[in-house]
Amino acid sequence: MKFTHITLACALALSGTLAGAQTTGKLKVGLMLPATGTFASLGTAIENGFRLHIAEQGGKLAGREIEFFKVDDESDPSKAVDNATKLVSRDKVDVLVGTVHSGVAMAMAKVAKDTGTMLIVPNAGADAVTGAMCAPHIFRSSFSNWQPGYAMGEVMAKRGHKNVVTITWKYAAGDESVRGFKEAFEKSGGKVVKELALPFPNVEFQALLTEIAAAKPDAVYTFFAGGGAVKFVKDYAGAGLKIKIPLYGAGFLTDGTLEAQGADADGLFTTLHYADSLNTPRDQAFRLAYAKAYKLQPDVYAVQGYDAAQMLSVGLAAVKGDISKKTEFAAALRKAKIDSPRGPFTISASHNPVQDIYLRQVGAKENKSTGIASKALADPGRGCRM
Ligand code: PHB
Repeated sequence: MKFTHITLACALALSGTLAGAQTTGKLKVGLMLPATGTFASLGTAIENGFRLHIAEQGGKLAGREIEFFKVDDESDPSKAVDNATKLVSRDKVDVLVGTVHSGVAMAMAKVAKDTGTMLIVPNAGADAVTGAMCAPHIFRSSFSNWQPGYAMGEVMAKRGHKNVVTITWKYAAGDESVRGFKEAFEKSGGKVVKELALPFPNVEFQALLTEIAAAKPDAVYTFFAGGGAVKFVKDYAGAGLKIKIPLYGAGFLTDGTLEAQGADADGLFTTLHYADSLNTPRDQAFRLAYAKAYKLQPDVYAVQGYDAAQMLSVGLAAVKGDISKKTEFAAALRKAKIDSPRGPFTISASHNPVQDIYLRQVGAKENKSTGIASKALADPGRGCRM
């Protein structure tokens, strides 16, 4: 009897220690982002935003200091499983945060599923991450590729365009952005007459621009981002197309790129879950803090990084720092309203933001909101079973 009591006491003491180990001590965050290539500056903005939120919390979330482990994923899907596995198995991170490129993010989602590691995606829109690959411990702070595309399909139909050519990179993000666009545009009576694409991250646009000129559509819809978006906008204007055939895009076309695009971007309309001139107290405070910390203006990527950290905060607070409590962590996020600089958003049953999509127009080096194109737009989460 006595012996049993002692054993029980030992067991309790031991389990107390184990639980303690999970709620105190450093929380290891594996940042997997591009530091090189066409998306390098996007990776920097995400990391800046993520660190800004943590700095605002005094360097700790739910009482735990944050320790970073970093890998440059090079936006290369062929290296992605190895890179994510290194963070999980060698560095033993508690949570993976990444990345920009949809193909790389799908590999991260696979590693997260196979190892039970928490994953927060701060950009990549791969529909499957919150669709067929969804899981209780996988979240996104950004968007699905479907979302900005779908919103723009409705906008362009309303603006009276009937025949549209699409042009993008041939990979998940480009394909899905165009698919979302086409779904809404054709439902509203428009027709996609030609779908053009080139391999990621190629920027040899000339032959395709010649095809657009020959097809003479009413307008063009595009998905490009980062360095590729800069060159596309410049080449489109340079080929004399900008004045003949209006160019529209998912907002990545002109986000974080306006300095380099100069006047060639002026007047372009895009759809996105962020804009430069929202003028809300929340956004102004964020923009001021970001500019002070980094001597840079924030963009959508900075916001998504900041919100990935905010989502981690909310989840961790609910489990008092014990990230192994995945069910409670997820339950807290599903109920949460994230106080984002973009405007508050909720998280869908498949863990993607339910958010307003703005229609923006470029002017004076800013993506100015001209209003909300699609209110509280939820990705359909196709194929998600949780
Ligand atoms: C993606 O690959 O999902 C992606 C990349 C860059 C963006 C947006 C989406 O700006």
